[in-house]
Amino acid sequence: MSGGSLDVVGTGIRAVAQVTAEARRRIEAADLVLYATDTVTARWIERLNPRAESLDRLYAPGEPRRVTYERTVARILEAVRQGRRVCAAYYGHPGVFVYATHASLRLARAEGYSARMLPAVSASDSLFADLGVDPGHRGCQSHEATDFLSHHTVFDPAVPLILWQVGIIGDWGYGGRPNRTGRRMLLEKLLPAYGPEHEVVLYQAAQYAACPFLVARFPLRRLEAVPGDPYCTLCVPPTGTSRPDRGVAARLGLTLPEE
Ligand SMILES: C[S@@+](CC[C@H](N)C(=O)[O-])C[C@H]1O[C@@H](n2cnc3c(N)ncnc32)[C@H](O)[C@@H]1O
Repeated sequence: MSGGSLDVVGTGIRAVAQVTAEARRRIEAADLVLYATDTVTARWIERLNPRAESLDRLYAPGEPRRVTYERTVARILEAVRQGRRVCAAYYGHPGVFVYATHASLRLARAEGYSARMLPAVSASDSLFADLGVDPGHRGCQSHEATDFLSHHTVFDPAVPLILWQVGIIGDWGYGGRPNRTGRRMLLEKLLPAYGPEHEVVLYQAAQYAACPFLVARFPLRRLEAVPGDPYCTLCVPPTGTSRPDRGVAARLGLTLPEE
């Protein structure tokens, strides 16, 4: 038994196919793998390392998500403190919209344990590939939908906008009823910037190699019809163009093309 350590890895979006070589090695070498993944990846992990335990059993329907997250952190830290080399394996990128992984790493490091995160393929990486969005072209805005709504978030309609967890706006639990008020409020926030006919894209990356990704394109005014699916992301393409700052470009010695 070692002195206790924590590796946090992601298994990507497409089951098993996107696990990196280094993540696989961490899973194999661990004294205990704690996983929160799709079922195909879960079975693969269990075959790779029989010392594996699902974090799903810590989820309780109807409970606020935050309570489950804290219970998950407690389970991960308990195993590290027992002196085990723990590998926490999460669906997607383990550092993208995952409270428990960041909190566990912070705690483990504060207590002097070796703790690190490996990157992986996230839903936004899949979206860039499937929808042809390049975050390097005029940037990219990315927000959790409820957070976007409940803060005075400043956004720029000339830059692509990605809204995560759009199917579960205003839901602090697990897949309650679709929140109509939340959708209406999101519509009210976006309408002045984009107008009712602006086309938005509801996106679902393929979870299995043989399946296609799914997109539904519709005018913004129909936003209230978004299904209550926790595994979809809204992409709002830019409207208009961002204005070049020719003064700054000149000071950089650059000549911008005429519009
Ligand atoms: C708690 S976050 C987890 C994100 C995950 N860690 C990642 O790296 O993509 C869940 C949100 O990720 C997005 N998401 C997860 N799976 C997706 C998929 N297959 N297609 C599109 N979006 C997805 C959705 O916005 C969903 O509400």
